[in-house]
Amino acid sequence: MLVKTMELLTVAARHNVGVLAFNVIGFEHAEAIVLGAEAEQSPVILQVSQNAIAYRLGLIAPIGRACNELAAQAAVPVSLHLDHATTRDLCERAADVGFSSIMYDGSSLSYDDNVEKTAALSDWAHQNGIGIEGELGVVGGKGGVLTTPEGMTDPGMATRYVAATGVDALAVAVGSEHGMVERRARLDLDRIEQLHDAVPVPLVLHGSSGVTDTDLVAAVKRGMTKINLATQLNTAFTAAIRSYLKVDEAVVDPRRYGERGRAVMVDVVRDRCWLVGSSGRAHDFLLEGGGDREVVRNL
Ligand code: G3H
Ligand code: ZN
Repeated sequence: MLVKTMELLTVAARHNVGVLAFNVIGFEHAEAIVLGAEAEQSPVILQVSQNAIAYRLGLIAPIGRACNELAAQAAVPVSLHLDHATTRDLCERAADVGFSSIMYDGSSLSYDDNVEKTAALSDWAHQNGIGIEGELGVVGGKGGVLTTPEGMTDPGMATRYVAATGVDALAVAVGSEHGMVERRARLDLDRIEQLHDAVPVPLVLHGSSGVTDTDLVAAVKRGMTKINLATQLNTAFTAAIRSYLKVDEAVVDPRRYGERGRAVMVDVVRDRCWLVGSSGRAHDFLLEGGGDREVVRNL
């Protein structure tokens, strides 16, 4: 069933478990994410980034409506989130197709500009019943941006940022980096705990693909709630298709290798949901998140 992202995050934070937000690029991704979450009886977030929308010919409605329909028909709570947006226009278009939350990425701006732009979008979001995630600090790996110790999020500044912007969730820089294909990033776990104590909203980890399993589990225990993951899905999808095409060079029908790619993404989704503690929790989320009581009874 389609639910709101902020309901999922509120319940997850209350139970001290993580919720995965997987990046959707194509239809196979969206199907695999929903199938994996259903197999785990786990809530999940389908997130589409501004870059993915650019790849989808700049159109959010086709991919967004497909995600919306898959979420509505899912047997577990699923929400839609717009990831790494930098324009208000895109946020408005996302809201029109049923996204319940957006991330405004002001991380490349000065602190003052980030606050000003995020606060303005926060007003719009709240007037329209949309949840908003802001970002403070620099998570590298996108557009040549580096991850540095200076880019880490300062807890005191995070307190002020959340108060000044009114965001509902906060993405923080704690040692992860976007797009890593090996799991060797080490997180500053003490900083996560300090940030968790410093801000009254759920924390978001970007660049989760490169984080070791041990650190990911520890991060959730110390207060990380929304776990964004893209590269691990793409690595599995591409590797499965590559090995299929090596064996069957004459294949023509994309469904032959597409279904392999989808199947391995289902496994990644299941594994990650289990790791962050959301497996088997769909019921809790539906009961406490204000969801559709008919669906709860029928589960
Ligand atoms: O916003 C999306 C995530 O931060 C994904 O990062 O590709 O390193 O898992 P990742
Ligand atoms: Zn990210």
